[in-house]
Amino acid sequence: WEERSLRPQRLTQYIGQKKVKDNLSVFIKAAKMREETLDHVLLYGPPGLGKTTLSMIIANEMGVNLRTTSGPAIERPGDLAAILTALEPGDVLFIDEIHRLNRSVEEVLYPAMEDYCLDIVIGKGPTARSVRLDLPPFTLVGATTRAGMLSAPLRDRFGVVSRLEYYTNEELGEIVERTAEVLEVPLIHEAGREIASRSRGTPRIANRLLRRVRDFAQVRGTGEVDVKVTKEALELLQVDPLGLDEIDHKLLGNIIEKFRGGPVGLDTLAATIGEESHTIEDVYEPFLLQLGFLQRTPRGRMVTPEAYKHLKLEVPKK
Ligand code: ADE
Repeated sequence: WEERSLRPQRLTQYIGQKKVKDNLSVFIKAAKMREETLDHVLLYGPPGLGKTTLSMIIANEMGVNLRTTSGPAIERPGDLAAILTALEPGDVLFIDEIHRLNRSVEEVLYPAMEDYCLDIVIGKGPTARSVRLDLPPFTLVGATTRAGMLSAPLRDRFGVVSRLEYYTNEELGEIVERTAEVLEVPLIHEAGREIASRSRGTPRIANRLLRRVRDFAQVRGTGEVDVKVTKEALELLQVDPLGLDEIDHKLLGNIIEKFRGGPVGLDTLAATIGEESHTIEDVYEPFLLQLGFLQRTPRGRMVTPEAYKHLKLEVPKK
């Protein structure tokens, strides 16, 4: 079962993110040598880069249980108290989208992180009193798309803060080959490279594209994923040679056609293409910024000449 799982189980099986991995492996070893709980870890970066996978690996490497939840799922302080009191010593608590915790829940989290205790208020009015409850020591692994969205007091309580970067095409190629082995998909090396180079630096996208291309290969081809079926499938899926999809094209196209290339404010842009502002900001924009196709200015988003060239459009003269 261990080798067959799509998500790597150990740090040594995890491809890419070398800096994050090297640092984590030292902190994990040190904590184990001292027989201590690992310090709290904050993982941040664009979606699909492996934050959840890393939290599973951390729990695995520490030899403890993993408890998973998310910011929006913890509505009231009592919800968090219930989770914290059910932990066993050393456990990893993974909170995805930790920037979406509300204020009253965050306040319960501070003493829990710092002193492994809960302050509970019993009763109301003049007879109300506060009771301090000890918790088992635990490791909080928080994940967020942008560290800037966390409140400063919460961010400051993480001993380890790691930023995940987009993967290189080389690394994504390795991930696609590993996934193909796990799924028992016959994959030609160059086809794997083609999928990798169209996956926007993101393993989640690479693995999804591999599955879709496999479907085409099975129904329309011989079952083997070769370069020909890969290119045909990706064209039908409207994934262009740089990995930009329909929504990326719509985003760039709208700025160009409706706003003469920008600048245009994020909310205006979101309304025009019918996507949520924060989806654009967290999911689409980071890769377009990285490609240099989009610029953020104080007056809004602007499309760059490079984007016009990629879209085979004439760059407008000033
Ligand atoms: N699957 C998804 N992300 C991965 C990674 N970083 N390494 C190995 N397999 C993966």
